[in-house]
Order: sequence, then structure tokens, then C-alpha cells
Amino acid sequence: MNFLSSIEQKREGKILAPEQIQNFIREFTAGKIPDYQMAAMLMAIYFRGLNTAETTALTLAMRDSGDALKFPKDKRPLVDKHSTGGIGDKVSLPLAPLLACLGFRVPMISGRGLGITGGTLDKLDSIPGFKTLLPAGKIVDQVQKIGCVICGQTDRMVPADKKIYALRDVSGTVPSIPLITASILSKKLAESLDALVLDVKFGCAAFMQTRTDARKLAKAMVALGNECGVNTRAILTNMDTPLGRAAGNWLEVKESVACLETGRADLPVSQAAQQRGPTDLLELVLGCAALLLVQTRKAKSLVAARKRAEDCLNSGAPRKKWDEMLIAQGADLGAFNKKLALDHTAPVVVELKAEKPGFVSRCDARLIGEVIRDLGGGRLTKESAINYDVGIDQIAKPGERVGKSGILCRIHATDRIKAGVASRQLEAAFTISTRRPPAIPLVAGILP
Ligand code: URA
Repeated sequence: MNFLSSIEQKREGKILAPEQIQNFIREFTAGKIPDYQMAAMLMAIYFRGLNTAETTALTLAMRDSGDALKFPKDKRPLVDKHSTGGIGDKVSLPLAPLLACLGFRVPMISGRGLGITGGTLDKLDSIPGFKTLLPAGKIVDQVQKIGCVICGQTDRMVPADKKIYALRDVSGTVPSIPLITASILSKKLAESLDALVLDVKFGCAAFMQTRTDARKLAKAMVALGNECGVNTRAILTNMDTPLGRAAGNWLEVKESVACLETGRADLPVSQAAQQRGPTDLLELVLGCAALLLVQTRKAKSLVAARKRAEDCLNSGAPRKKWDEMLIAQGADLGAFNKKLALDHTAPVVVELKAEKPGFVSRCDARLIGEVIRDLGGGRLTKESAINYDVGIDQIAKPGERVGKSGILCRIHATDRIKAGVASRQLEAAFTISTRRPPAIPLVAGILP
């Protein structure tokens, strides 16, 4: 094939035929097109864009570059949630067992973190013995048996995306709406889903910094997902502030388990609810579950769906399902529970204190993400090793009152020097005001 002429066509803003796109994805996956030519094509797409038909062709060609998961017929719908990524975004962890208990099958194929954004697989890797690399047969078996799995892509799933994403990462072509759409949806379509919720983040720590851009991306993905036969909806959520009160791999697992707990029976309801973890995390977990219940017609309205999801969570069944999932994926439950009982697993914990009393009016998720990455909790390159124990917890959120010397957050570090550096950097992440700032809603919209 003459790939050069396709690159030139796209460089000139012309429309590529579906067969051209199918051909070059097939040839590139087979190693017959060199990286430098594909990088040129990606840059041409970055500047010239792709129309809907081209994006559909690219997505389907990428999906078909490998094997899709195949599930036996079953009355339980196959569903998943995908987030475009942020700081403290651990929704997938409590959501998968909750959905399984609501009567869904959840083949949640997740990714690793890069840069400041955390990755679900890295969080799960902090659980003793837990395996995230599973063969396709085991993924299907586990979903059929217990209802959910959270694991990585197999080598045979969507290999085109693996190669193209690696190239985009080093060629400045990541933030392109058609390329992000094709990358995310090709992987989700390979899960053979009935319904999908996309959590598209906007804000200082998100891919899409503005709500307008996030809406554009969400619209493109929702349209394409539905066109490809998967009932797809998107939820637009704010990522100026971390989700929950903890960010960092193990600290996020702890917070996710707290979200699944039913609360202590010996405490008054309001205190018991606090034991369950932060309300914004709970809101998003229940919001995603409710959407999927409506999308699959298991509930008639979002209000009824949310109540059903809440009742299910309150029953304690999802907490038991979490343990079932851990055991199925090789975790050492005894070691996990021992680790869970510890206040911290990093060698050093330091409190960052407010210099004056007032209301938290800013808690900058981007700065917090950068600090966690520099503490060793994130990757600078795909090859970097990460430390699972470091991170930030007890984060004070916008709108909350703090006294002088009140805790703004705790820093979990490998040594005192690193904790000191992080502490100085984090001072800039918080703003304390004399007046309570207006509340900013977590969910800014739902599409369609
Ligand atoms: N996540 C993906 O899987 N692909 C992208 O292009 C961006 C985020």
C-alpha cells in the first residue's frame, strides 16, 4: 500500500476512505509501516482532525486489530465505566463489585498511570498477591462466575492501540479528540459491552482543561459508542480538586474499601456514614451505577436507580464481592486485611498544617498529582518503577473550615527529606479564605 500518499492526503485536510484507514491500521499492527511514518500520520490527524466516518473506521479497525472478549449468552448485561483520568479517581474499585451485586457482568479492562494521572492497575498492584494480568479465558470465566474482574489488556486485545498510544506519547499527539475517542472506544468495544458510562473529567488536573473541551470529547465518544451498538452515556465531572480525600496507590485502595463498608452499627447514622469515606467518591460511584441501571432498563428513572444502588451498597454485599474478586485474582486476603488495618505503610508521615484559620477555597489537584509523582507514586516514563505506599491523605476539601494549624493533608513519603520537599510544594496547592467559597458541583452534566 502507498501509505505516504495517505499521509499527504491527511496533511492537506482531505478525507480518508474507510478502506485506507483499515489498511494502514492492519499494516502498522503487522509491523509493515515504520513508526516515523505513523507518527507523521498522527500529527496530520492532530492538526486536520477526522470526521465522524473516519473516526468510526479508525475505532473499528483498531478494535479488530486483535481479539475481542467473547462471553456466553446470559441475562446479566455486560457493562463498564471508563474515566479519562484524574487525581484520586478510584471510582472503578468500589464500582465493579457494586455493579456485580446489581446483576451486571463487569469486564473492567483498565490501564496504568502515566505522568500525574493515577492508573487503576497500579492501585490494585498494591494489594498483596493480586494479579492484574490475566489471559482472556480467565477474564471471561471470572466474569461469568463472580460478575466482575478488574485487570489489564491482554497482549491480543487491541494491539494497534498499544503501539499507537506509545507513539502518541512521544510525538505530542495525545490531546486529539478523534485519537482519544478511537483509543478509548476501541478498547471498550473489544469488551463486547451492552452499556458503557464514560466519566469525562475537566479541570486543572484533567486531559481536557475546560468544560467546553470535555463536552466536545464526551459528545464524540457518546455518538460513536452508540453508533457502534453500545448504549453509551457520559458524565462530565470536575477535576480541579482530587476526588475523595486520598491520592496515591495504596491509600486509594484503603479509601475504596471504606466506601464499600456499611458503617459501624454502634455509631449514630451521621458518624457511620463518615466511616464510609468521602461523599464525592460515593456520589460518583452511585451516579455511575444509576446511569447503567437506566441504560440497561433495569430501572425506570435515575432517582429509582440511585436508590437501588444505594440499598445494594448498604446491604454489605458489594464489600463481600470485593473480597471474592480479590481471592479470584490471587490476593492474599489475610495479608491484605493486615495491611488495611495499618494507619500507613510508608516509612514517614508528615502533616501539612494551615497557617491561618478560614475556609479551604482551593485544593489544586494538578499540584497534588505532581507531588505524588515526585514522591515516587507516579511514573515519569512508562518504564519507571513506582512506590505504592506514598501519597497524600486526609485532604481538606474546598468549602471546609480549618482552624489555625488544622490539618490540610498528610504526606506519606519514603523519607523525611522527600516529605519536607513535598510539604513545601503542597503549601501552594491550598488557598485559605476568610469566606466560605461557593460550592462547585462535582457533576457538571450528563450526555445525552
Ligand atoms: N486513555 C486512553 O486509553 N487513550 C487515550 O488516548 C487517552 C486516555
